Amino acid sequence: MATVQITLLGCGKMGSAMLKGWLADRDLDAQFTIIEPYADHLGWARAHKQVAIYKDCNAAITAGAPVSAVIVLAVKPQMMDEAIAAFGPLRDDNTAFLTIAAGISTSWLKTRLGAHAPVLRAMPNTPAAIGKGVTALYCDAAAADLAALATQLLRTIGIVVPIDDEALMDAVTAVSGSGPAYVFLMAEAMTEAGVSAGLPAALAKQLAEATITGAGALIEAAVEPPSILRENVTSKGGTTAAALMVLMADDGLSSLMERAVQAAKKRSVELGA
Ligand SMILES: NC(=O)c1ccc[n+]([C@@H]2O[C@H](COP(=O)([O-])OP(=O)(O)OC[C@H]3O[C@@H](n4cnc5c(N)ncnc54)[C@H](OP(=O)(O)O)[C@@H]3O)[C@@H](O)[C@H]2O)c1
Repeated sequence: MATVQITLLGCGKMGSAMLKGWLADRDLDAQFTIIEPYADHLGWARAHKQVAIYKDCNAAITAGAPVSAVIVLAVKPQMMDEAIAAFGPLRDDNTAFLTIAAGISTSWLKTRLGAHAPVLRAMPNTPAAIGKGVTALYCDAAAADLAALATQLLRTIGIVVPIDDEALMDAVTAVSGSGPAYVFLMAEAMTEAGVSAGLPAALAKQLAEATITGAGALIEAAVEPPSILRENVTSKGGTTAAALMVLMADDGLSSLMERAVQAAKKRSVELGA
């Protein structure tokens, strides 16, 4: 297969995580054009001969950067309109666009990039920074044959889950896009509760954080679902049962989480409007 020409628009946190993964992927034969206005943090990427970094599209065009097979859109949603206006000869009719921006729909992009532009929409999350993200991927009909390449590009930052209905993206954002923050809050809340229960702060923090990472790893490793893992550590009349009586009350964690996820989904819909 010929070398794939990939342009990455925006090389911040997510863009850098993806680029690191792409450069480490021995099965990916690609050349990269990176468009990033403040590239001081990208010294590590300049060392790779298949990477060319430009401060904007004009600089890339002036330097003769080639037409892209795929342009990955990794700028903040509020920058997107301005950022995608200047591709010029960096794209042609066959160029596909892979967006990871929250709330930016394929129809919004097609209005600006052309009705026939192949567009793929993905929603990653922050554990992508250590290759442990989960990314939902939606391919519109015009981009169906690019799903394998998009999956390869996104797999470098974690697992990829295909979705066949773009309308699910708001709920995906509310569960996995924003989800790491819920778990970070859980670590904070357990630490605070440990201090209230009499533990020194440093010890409470260490115990809470190790418990959450350990329990996460156990979910990943175990065959049983989380509900069974929970039951396995809950003896009748014991300490865990006492805590779960509180957490599983009608106004407990499930109803709180439901309200939180609904709020995030509603906000995602608003941002995409
Ligand atoms: N971080 C997450 O957890 C997460 C999760 C899911 C989805 N996403 C999506 O991923 C995208 C990137 O997020 P991020 O966290 O990586 O943001 P980020 O760190 O701010 O990265 C965006 C980068 O794009 C650069 N940029 C701004 N305008 C540009 C332009 N016109 N052309 C090229 N590059 C430009 C920014 O430079 P300056 O900093 O100089 O402006 C910045 O380096 C967002 O759309 C976000 O919705 C992020």
